[in-house]
Amino acid sequence: MKLALIGCGRLGFSILQGLSRAGFLDVSVFDVDKSKVDKAKSLGFKPCQSSREAVEQAEAVILSVKPAVVEQACQEIRDCCIDKLLISTAAATTLSKLKSLMPQSYVVRVMPNIAVSQNSSITLLAHPPDAPEEVLEKAVNIFKLLGEVLVVDEEDLERATVISGSGPAYIAYFTEALVKAAVSIGLNEQLALKLSTLTLSGASKLLAEAGMSTREVIDAVATPGGLTAKALETLDSLKLKEGFTQAVLEAYKKLLSIRQ
Ligand SMILES: NC(=O)c1ccc[n+]([C@@H]2O[C@H](COP(=O)([O-])OP(=O)(O)OC[C@H]3O[C@@H](n4cnc5c(N)ncnc54)[C@H](OP(=O)(O)O)[C@@H]3O)[C@@H](O)[C@H]2O)c1
Repeated sequence: MKLALIGCGRLGFSILQGLSRAGFLDVSVFDVDKSKVDKAKSLGFKPCQSSREAVEQAEAVILSVKPAVVEQACQEIRDCCIDKLLISTAAATTLSKLKSLMPQSYVVRVMPNIAVSQNSSITLLAHPPDAPEEVLEKAVNIFKLLGEVLVVDEEDLERATVISGSGPAYIAYFTEALVKAAVSIGLNEQLALKLSTLTLSGASKLLAEAGMSTREVIDAVATPGGLTAKALETLDSLKLKEGFTQAVLEAYKKLLSIRQ
């Protein structure tokens, strides 16, 4: 299948990196910023001079531009995307908005995260109720090259935006905090980063692969009255969990306020 990518920014380029790792190079790429198209070319993808040129060569299109420019980007390709699949990565841009902009295309929404570059994204996919099965299969198969795919209703995709879409930044933020703490007690930064990231991937395996619950992991480490328990008690007294919930809520409120 031939693909087009419109918008080769932070997410778009990460998608290309993942597709390249999966050996899928049949993608025509356009971005208004020529230097980003050149970057895509250096990975072996086909550079295009316009979004129309990219779309005309493809059966399916990934639109990966900011929500504020979705409308303009759709206008540019509307009449050459007839009967083609258009997969939008844009946050807060509903299927009904996309359908109104692209009435003669099959529209689908996805919410991946930047771990697409490592083929380790969790991608949520939502579609209109009348989307043909073969169209959905195409969309799912593209994102399966980039990690795991879950087909969900649109409201869950919206919620997931501030969980798994934003998630890599939260995890990096947490890692930053752990590294800072490690350095403050005398570890050098390089070792602190290695300890933090490998601990993160080990803990993630316990939760995601070994099937341990979060409580089981905590209980397996934090002996009552011990050192980890002391650290966790301190985090609780600082209301870190509440702060985190508040942060996600604020992001979600913002998403709902810009939803189009
Ligand atoms: N970044 C993430 O982790 C992430 C995760 C999930 C979903 N998303 C969603 O994915 C979309 C892209 O996000 P991003 O972070 O990759 O944004 P980004 O870095 O700003 O990338 C968007 C790219 O599209 C270009 N562009 C603007 N108008 C265009 C047009 N008409 N035709 C072709 N290219 C155009 C932009 O160029 P200029 O910068 O020159 O305008 C930019 O290079 C957003 O809607 C976002 O909500 C992002």
